Amino acid sequence: MKNNEITPKKYQFSGKMVNAYFDADFADLEKLVKKESTILVTDENIFEKQKNKFAGWKTIVLKAGEQFKNQKAVDQIIGQLIELNADRQSFLVGVGGGVITDITGFAASVYMRGIRFGFVPTSILGMVDASIGGKNGIDIGVYKNLVGIIRHPEFLLYDYSFLETLPHEEWINGFAEIIKHGCIKDDEMFRELEEKSLKDFEISKNEIGSLVERNVDIKYKVVASDEFETGERKLLNFGHTIGHAIENTAKLPHGSAISIGIIAASIISEKINGFSNLQTEKVKALLSKYHLPVAFDFNKEVKEKTWQVLLHDKKKAGSDMNFVVLDEIGKASVKKISLNDLHEIFFSLN
Ligand SMILES: NC(=O)c1ccc[n+]([C@@H]2O[C@H](COP(=O)([O-])OP(=O)(O)OC[C@H]3O[C@@H](n4cnc5c(N)ncnc54)[C@H](O)[C@@H]3O)[C@@H](O)[C@H]2O)c1
Ligand SMILES: [Zn+2]
Repeated sequence: MKNNEITPKKYQFSGKMVNAYFDADFADLEKLVKKESTILVTDENIFEKQKNKFAGWKTIVLKAGEQFKNQKAVDQIIGQLIELNADRQSFLVGVGGGVITDITGFAASVYMRGIRFGFVPTSILGMVDASIGGKNGIDIGVYKNLVGIIRHPEFLLYDYSFLETLPHEEWINGFAEIIKHGCIKDDEMFRELEEKSLKDFEISKNEIGSLVERNVDIKYKVVASDEFETGERKLLNFGHTIGHAIENTAKLPHGSAISIGIIAASIISEKINGFSNLQTEKVKALLSKYHLPVAFDFNKEVKEKTWQVLLHDKKKAGSDMNFVVLDEIGKASVKKISLNDLHEIFFSLN
């Protein structure tokens, strides 16, 4: 995007075209929106660490972290929009990780019954996952993403210089989703990740840029083929059933929990779907290579609590559970597993 030209890659969803500007410059935002009628939403960490980028923009700064992804944050945005005299012509831009883009998309969708919005994702997870697919929302107490809406942003602007200040642990978190994408859809990317290391991506904007774009393509393809999650889109939940349960009970970062969930799901794939142990070992080795935990060595109390959470999972259907399993690396499907079998496998994980 040099020499003033700014050409998007177009992602077509049902009823909505999203323009993605890869390898762009934050300053190009001025070419996409009118500065006077645009309000940015970000969090304190990003605002502090990337202060110069926000100069001259009206900006709402929220507290950082999942615990603030709530109605109070939405109320704060709405209060400030009123103070800023925002109207139906106003434009919101969420500049942040998944927490910020989820809240911004939701607030923009309800303010005056919906104003336009765009995203500048700043974390790896935000770039490859949260900002794509139109799901926006907030948590209610312990219930994650309980309230929300499906509405796509007008654009996604990727400026990889944001990643210069992204904490190392957040890089690791994001790679859990990238490895997930490899497991369910892209064995070639899986092999490339095996050959490289996290460091290769951390030090090179070209490397991380092309990996991000590849992962946006993967998520886009899956979502576009099944926007309302009746089939294919469920595959994106790979590793997330046990992952989410353990995230809450063992209070792990999302990426760590998903890593453990991916291992558990690989072992379940061995037991019920003919996935080979050799392939599980490959998945384990790759997660480990990207500094993610792979052991399920929690105490009995945590395991018991996790099992109870699993029993309340939305994917439970009577005495069975719909579970995303691997057929092979790069290919996944949804299979039913009986709660009895799941119980047995779950408690034998280590
Ligand atoms: N909408 C969806 O489809 C979807 C998909 C996956 C995840 N999500 C949501 O995404 C959220 C997780 O996203 P996340 O991991 O990006 O969390 P996050 O937004 O909390 O960001 C993680 C941390 O990194 C900091 N940060 C982000 N970018 C930074 C930068 N460039 N420099 C310095 N610090 C930076 C943030 O302040 C925060 O402390 C969850 O709420 C999850 O529910 C949504
Ligand atoms: Zn996830």
